[in-house]
Amino acid sequence: MNRPLLIFSGQSNRPLAQAIAEALGLPLGKSTTQRFANDNLFVRFEESLREGDVFIVQSFTPPVQDHLMELLMMIDAAKGASAARVTAVIPYFSYARSDKKDAPRISITARLIADLLQTAGADRVLTMTLHSPQVHGFFKIPVDHLSAEPVIANYFATRVDLENAVVVAPDAGDLKRASSLARRLGLPLAFIDKERVSDTEVRVRMLVGEVEGKTALIVDDEISTAGSLVEAVEALMQAGAKEVYAAATHGVYVGPALERIANSPVKEVAATDTCPPKAGPKLKTLTVAPLFAEAIWRIHRGESVSSLFT
Ligand code: R5P
Repeated sequence: MNRPLLIFSGQSNRPLAQAIAEALGLPLGKSTTQRFANDNLFVRFEESLREGDVFIVQSFTPPVQDHLMELLMMIDAAKGASAARVTAVIPYFSYARSDKKDAPRISITARLIADLLQTAGADRVLTMTLHSPQVHGFFKIPVDHLSAEPVIANYFATRVDLENAVVVAPDAGDLKRASSLARRLGLPLAFIDKERVSDTEVRVRMLVGEVEGKTALIVDDEISTAGSLVEAVEALMQAGAKEVYAAATHGVYVGPALERIANSPVKEVAATDTCPPKAGPKLKTLTVAPLFAEAIWRIHRGESVSSLFT
């Protein structure tokens, strides 16, 4: 696109936005967000956006509703300030878990958010590892859906001895992701059948696959309360796994997550910086800033992004 490339950030994950801008050799654009006494938000761009190709980086991390609203307001303000095109860069799209009507009288909130982003004026969306890829279909505007698989594969390949390892899907939703990672690393696959008891508790029903004496590599889309993770680690250790490592795209780490991980026999837990990293003795952060920078550069230039999807 023959327009200036402008990168801005909401409040949710400025270090990632800064790292993306640096990888592109650009300054992060200046904007202000304020909260009035009555709790209303106020956003303002502090530089001209006229005819610009604007990318606004915002993850839906807690407080999710504030960050969503701030992004909607920034998109609206950018369109009102005559940006030529506005791309919502949403490294972590949390409401993607509300993607179906699996109980009466509930909201398919992922679709609602897609509608809100389009109503605000977003021309495109760039995101990573949606909980279920079909959320992509809730949008009528173009969506580029990146995968953290290359980053996670590189982490496992450099951190553990793959000689006697097995990739583990901690639930049915992760089976495709885990199977793809297993193929990439040339490893066998195991699978856990999990039942969600409540928002924060899960129960392992069954473990399928050979893990005895092996290094188990769990791969998940997100770690929220870490209930899924620690139950999977327990089941793997009980089945005779030698050791367990885990990696997820989104390290949200809310509620009891950090304590659960600290008390679990898991060796190390890696997550990317789509959410602001948290500190902990077993936690490791992998950066996806170069991947987002490359995608933004290609979108800006009108070049293919598909090689970055896998
Ligand atoms: C669930 O379907 C996802 O793939 C994750 O396993 C889940 O969101 C993690 O949540 P928590 O850490 O609270 O168990």
